[in-house]
Amino acid sequence: MHSMLEILILAAGKGTRMRSSLPKVLHKLAGKPLLGHVVDAAHALGAAQICVVYGFGGEAVPQALTDDNLTFVLQAEQHGTGHAVKQALPQLSDDGVTLVLYGDVPLTHTSTLEPLVAAARAGKLGLLTVKLAHPDDYGRIVRDADGRVRRIVEHKDATPAELAIHEVNTGILAVATRFLRQWIDALKNNNAQGEYYLTDIIAMAVHDGIDVTTYQPASDWEVMGVNSKAQLAELERIHQGETAQALLDAGVTLMDPARLDVRGMLTCGRDVVIDINCIFEGHVELGDNVQVGANCILRNAKVASGTRIDAFTVIDDAEIGEANRLGPFSRIRPGTSLARDVHVGNFVEIKNSQIDDGSKINHLSYLGDATVGKRVNIGAGTITCNYDGANKHRTIIEDDVFIGSDTQLVAPITVRQGATLGAGTTLTRDAPAGELTLSRTKQLTVDSWKRPLKQKKEN
Ligand code: UD1
Ligand code: MG
Repeated sequence: MHSMLEILILAAGKGTRMRSSLPKVLHKLAGKPLLGHVVDAAHALGAAQICVVYGFGGEAVPQALTDDNLTFVLQAEQHGTGHAVKQALPQLSDDGVTLVLYGDVPLTHTSTLEPLVAAARAGKLGLLTVKLAHPDDYGRIVRDADGRVRRIVEHKDATPAELAIHEVNTGILAVATRFLRQWIDALKNNNAQGEYYLTDIIAMAVHDGIDVTTYQPASDWEVMGVNSKAQLAELERIHQGETAQALLDAGVTLMDPARLDVRGMLTCGRDVVIDINCIFEGHVELGDNVQVGANCILRNAKVASGTRIDAFTVIDDAEIGEANRLGPFSRIRPGTSLARDVHVGNFVEIKNSQIDDGSKINHLSYLGDATVGKRVNIGAGTITCNYDGANKHRTIIEDDVFIGSDTQLVAPITVRQGATLGAGTTLTRDAPAGELTLSRTKQLTVDSWKRPLKQKKEN
């Protein structure tokens, strides 16, 4: 039996360089708080408990992550990473192993963390390190002549010789919880920063004869933290690049993998083509042979196979059926579902409406709270007047209706099967099936009317 894995996420730091009143770990990467990415990784590792140490920003951090199964521990004053871990120790059980992660290091792969956890389960201390050309202010990994780790020295406490070391501490480590508890209790703050350093436990492990085994991530960015908006932007690009690569590997055609943003989950069928500058948010599902034109935004949308979405179309919380044609410049709003072979053209807005097979709304229209049958043709400039200033009302348009251009349908109202509405109609009562209904003032031509002429100016 594996010993239980408990994960500590340190997230109490202020993040001064973000220049923001939002706690650093709540800044978003790919539409999700940095801390959310770390919590996801912790879940993926099968943590029995995930404990978040928070501080700066107060209750904003626990409030932002309510739906996850998390334990929150307040570190009211930040006296160092060792002090942060100490606050959480009462939550941890002695027979497990603890993995320490950081709320501002969002992109670590679980495959990078698994060996550390395995080392901890084998009675060792697993430590994640990287070799950096410019180790700057990271803690340095000090090894003996045989290459065995002896301790970590923080850059502010380091000698010039130690500062020349390129292997640095990522901060991420895993060890049996009962050892961790012993060592954390013994920490002192007699160092350059007057802080309790988590890193001091390495020398204690060595002293106690516990093996310290180091591991390296496949890429340096997996252990990069976010301290500034510039670093956040850099990690965002790296993450988006990874997402694009995964889509390409799955067979999706991206006209330019560098001009795609997925902020959530995008799943694609076979032979999907996505043009440049598209944004996908929340859960988006694209069926086989779906084509998405340039500059489209799709949020929480399901698009069935064979549908083509042309440029500048925005879809929000909607379901699009098979073989539809949308856009350019269509806006599909929440609660809308389009059945099969529906065409929606430029400057058409559809909200909370159901459109059945083969219907077409090709130009400059607004449909709100409408139920539209099969093979309906809605002319340019048609508006459902669904709102009376207080309440919303439904418009029902039955199968095979033809609606002339520039028509207003004053809801609640029904246009019966096969009805035709003349152009310019303001419909205030139901239109009967199979008939032509129109409301229009009679056309008139004025006899012997003369267009006024411009008067000549006197000098
Ligand atoms: C720490 C490590 C250093 C390592 C570096 C990697 C220590 C003593 N040093 O340095 O060896 O190279 O991380 O980035 O551990 N935090 C708290 N409470 C605190 C202090 C920190 O929650 O009291 C959290 C911060 O929010 C942050 C993380 O711990 O996420 C690291 O803190 P930070 O002050 O950035 O660590 P460094 O001093 O840079
Ligand atoms: Mg510090």
